[in-house]
Amino acid sequence: MRNSSFFAILLVILVGLGPWRSIHSLESKQEMRLSVAMTIVPHAGSLGAVCLDGSPPAYHLHRGFGAGARNWLLQFEGGGWCDDVSSCLERSRTRRGSTRYMNKLEVFSGILSNNPSMNPDFYDWNRVKLRYCDGASFAGDSVYHNGTTVLYFRGQRIWDAIILDLLPKGLSQAQKVLLSGCSAGGLATFLHCDDLARLLPKATTVKCMSDAGFFLDVKDISGKNTIRSFFSSLVTLQGVQKYLNRNCAGSLDYPYQCFFPQHALTYIRSPYFILNSAYDVYQFHHIFVPPSADPYGHWNRCKSNPAACTANQIAILQE
Ligand SMILES: *[C@@H]1O[C@H](CO)[C@@H](O)[C@H](O)[C@H]1NC(C)=O
Repeated sequence: MRNSSFFAILLVILVGLGPWRSIHSLESKQEMRLSVAMTIVPHAGSLGAVCLDGSPPAYHLHRGFGAGARNWLLQFEGGGWCDDVSSCLERSRTRRGSTRYMNKLEVFSGILSNNPSMNPDFYDWNRVKLRYCDGASFAGDSVYHNGTTVLYFRGQRIWDAIILDLLPKGLSQAQKVLLSGCSAGGLATFLHCDDLARLLPKATTVKCMSDAGFFLDVKDISGKNTIRSFFSSLVTLQGVQKYLNRNCAGSLDYPYQCFFPQHALTYIRSPYFILNSAYDVYQFHHIFVPPSADPYGHWNRCKSNPAACTANQIAILQE
């Protein structure tokens, strides 16, 4: 008797919860899917602000309302970098280097969501996603041409053109602005946080947040400067150097090192929130243990499943 009534009660609970749970998750899925149309930046071409392939840059804006109507969240899209002509040429034929190949509708979720339960702090702010199509964290200014091929490295101009376009749309009247981004977009926040504060009225509060953008200037496990050589050729190819923080660049032997947040941070004045995982996949797989530093694949299991790392590998990562 006791057992059967227990099961009866359990059954009632399960039957009762089943439909409620599925309706609830369906509702929250629908609420999460806010799609926002792309805005092509007008007149960007006349400012020379173009993507790698020469296509115009773009952003997605969802308007704030109520108490958030005068606050702005800007988010740089991420997506790695290209540091030589062949990788940039390849990139220029993808959504990472041309607005022609991008989705024209972008789903706004997480910090971009308009759902107060998902995004209680920013749901009613003006929220902007800046599309990434230059390959140098919105910071280059150069052109490559050899007679048959042209590549535009105009990240800095794209950033300027987007801000210029947003100012009359309300950004110039903003009370609070948060500049954010993930990965290569997180790195872009370090390169542009203080410029943004300079472009806005003194009364505007500008703060910045980098999510997984604090790429470390470290040697790989074989002792080679893998990431230094990558960032060095990136800065040279794309003409990033003239936009790096001058005080930082003047203080280091190699100015390109100011592309690393750890060197630039000392010279940044705006308030910052820096979020980075200790086992960030890019830093682990491409900076600290790149395939070139592990020719026998001793780290492959640990890379695909951190729980499979040996005690020694964990100790090396922790260090
Ligand atoms: C220009 O560069 C592209 C890409 O590297 C190459 O395919 C092409 O042959 C080059 N053209 C000349 C004239 O060197």
